[in-house]
This record gives sequence, structure tokens and C-alpha cells, in this order.
Amino acid sequence: MGLFILFAIIFMQIYNAGANVPAVIVFGDSSVDAGNNNQIQTVLKSNFRPYGRDFFGGKATGRFSNGRVPPDFISEYFGLRPYVPAYLDPAYNISDFATGVCFASAGTGYDNATSDVLSVIPLWKEVEYYKEYQKKLREHLGVEKANTILSEAVYLTSMGTNDFLENYYTLPNRRSQYNINQYQDYLITIAESFIKELYGLGARKISLGGLPPMGCLPLERTTGFMTGNGGMCNDDYNKVAMTFNGKLSGLVKRLNGELSGSKIVFSNPYPLLDQIVQKPSSFGFESASVACCSTGLFEMGYMCNQYNPFTCSNANTYVFWDSFHPTEKTNHIISQHLFKTVLSTLL
Ligand SMILES: *[C@@H]1O[C@H](CO)[C@@H](O)[C@H](O)[C@H]1NC(C)=O
Ligand SMILES: *[C@@H]1O[C@H](CO)[C@@H](O)[C@H](O)[C@H]1NC(C)=O
Repeated sequence: MGLFILFAIIFMQIYNAGANVPAVIVFGDSSVDAGNNNQIQTVLKSNFRPYGRDFFGGKATGRFSNGRVPPDFISEYFGLRPYVPAYLDPAYNISDFATGVCFASAGTGYDNATSDVLSVIPLWKEVEYYKEYQKKLREHLGVEKANTILSEAVYLTSMGTNDFLENYYTLPNRRSQYNINQYQDYLITIAESFIKELYGLGARKISLGGLPPMGCLPLERTTGFMTGNGGMCNDDYNKVAMTFNGKLSGLVKRLNGELSGSKIVFSNPYPLLDQIVQKPSSFGFESASVACCSTGLFEMGYMCNQYNPFTCSNANTYVFWDSFHPTEKTNHIISQHLFKTVLSTLL
């Protein structure tokens, strides 16, 4: 007992010494979008109830969940604000963004053709916004202070699911150009130049996010049900996610060798999320196969709205909030695990 408390104190002291992570900077898709899509012309939005009903003030911010998404928790674990604001949100300005900013856009991917599908922000444009942010930060804090923040910040990136589910397996174009293995390699080349570009712009501590078991998203189970698969997970999609994660992990190893002074980590939600989906009751959930919102079978975005009478009353008993996105509770469990096992090494 005494030893446990001693370890707990040492653990907390290590974590509280985290003044060397001054900001969390986020790139990616709906897994991490804090509301940038509210400000653009797209049908992919979630800034209305019941989205956000468990967020601070019950506010529907444009996060695709009932509450917080992983960067919000991770920012808090680094000793920063308990949420990361969206860059395009007019309620925030550069002094807010000095400790954290999110450039992510729901529906985007590594591939330009993916962001075209629902007219969301392509990855290259997220990087353009980041460059604009750097300029504003230097004007606001002075070059030296701004550069210190930019190089000591933790960069969280999370995307790729849409490249496969919204693009490759839905539209004919990429499938006619690449087999699945070639398409993965194509995405990896984009991920590589993206990370190198961030490094060139001054980023040093970077987390590359892995794919979830995307064949177990309720929407994919429903699609499988309609084609006679009995509502089971789509094993082919899960295999693609695992293979792609292996390639991302290899990329991370390679880049650490190439980019001197960098610390790049692979944050892989797959194994834990897979355990949660296979045995939800061990984590306090009652359902993993259907989502909380509406019928839980296919609704997300505008289909998941406050006029639907079927939405569950306690999202904490569900692994998924809508047919494509985890509940806040799932996001919390995953974030805590990734912080303890991977991200805290960036302190
Ligand atoms: C940012 O907004 C706050 C109030 O919300 C204001 O006090 C502050 O001066 C603003 N900072 C800049 C740099 O505009
Ligand atoms: C994506 O589009 C941007 C802007 O047109 C372009 O600069 C970039 O090269 C494209 N990326 C790829 C991988 O084709």
C-alpha cells in the first residue's frame, strides 16, 4: 500500500512536470474534428442536438460524439485545457490557439479524392491553415517564443478510415487504379510527405494515429446485415485496417531514423477498441453492435437529430454514439490508454 502511494506520487510528479508540452496541435478527420466543418459548405456536420449533449454546457460543437473526442482528453492529460478548439471557430482567437488548435475536418483523408467526396477540408489545406496559424502565432508572441511552442508542441494526427470506407470501397475511381495493397502504399506515401512537411515546418513530437477495427463500426455491420452477413463485423475491412496499421508503424520507425531530433510515435487504437467491441461488458458497456443515436444502425450527421425518438438515454452504456463514431466514454478509455502507453513518452 505504502509503495503504491509512493509510485502514485512519483507518477503524478512526472506527469505534472509536463511544462514541456505547451500545446496540442491536431490534424485529421471526424475522429478528432472539434468543429471546423461548421464553418464550411458540406453536408457532413454535427453541430446540433443530440450531438454534444454530454459536452461542457451540453453544447453541440461539431464534434462527432455525445461529448469529448480524444485530443480533448489528451490535452487535459498534458496539463492543458480539457478541450482543443477548432481553428475555424470564430469564438476563439490566437491567444486561445497558443495552447492548442485543431485543423481536422470530418470526412477527410490522406487522399485528396476522399475530401472531395463530401467537399470537406483536404489534408493539404489543413497544412495551409497550420502555416497561417504559425504566422499569426509569431505575430502574437514574437518569433522566438512562438517557435519554441511549435517545436515543443505535441502533434496529433488521425485519419485514413474515410480513404477506405468513404472512397476506395464506395466509389469506382481508386479501385480501378489500385488494388487494395497498392492503395495502402499510395496513402503511406502521402502520410510520409505530410509528416516530413510538418517536420520541415518545425514540428518535432508527432503522433501518427492508427485505424480502428473499421469493419466493426455499426454502419459496416448494418451494410453486412443487408448483404446476408448477419450483422457481424466485416473481417475484410478489419484486415485492411490491421495491414495498414502495420505499414504506418513501419513508417514511424523509418521516419524516426531519418528526421533527426524528432520523436514520432504510433498511437494505435485498434487492439483496445477491438477488445472493447468483442467484450463490451468487461468495460461497462451494454452494446457494441448498434449505436446510441436513433436506431443505431446507420444514422450519423443530419440523420442523427433531436427529432428521433429512439436515441438512447445513457450513452455511457454504448460503445458507439452514432453509426460511425465512438461515444465519449469509449474516447475516454482509448485516450487514457494511449496516453499511458505511448503519448506520455512525448513529455
Ligand atoms: C482574444 O479574445 C479575448 C476575449 O475572448 C480577448 O481578451 C483577447 O484580447 C483576444 N486576443 C487577441 C490577440 O485578439
Ligand atoms: C492534393 O492536392 C493539392 C492541391 O491541389 C496538391 O498540391 C497535392 O499535390 C495533391 N496531392 C496528391 C498526393 O496528389
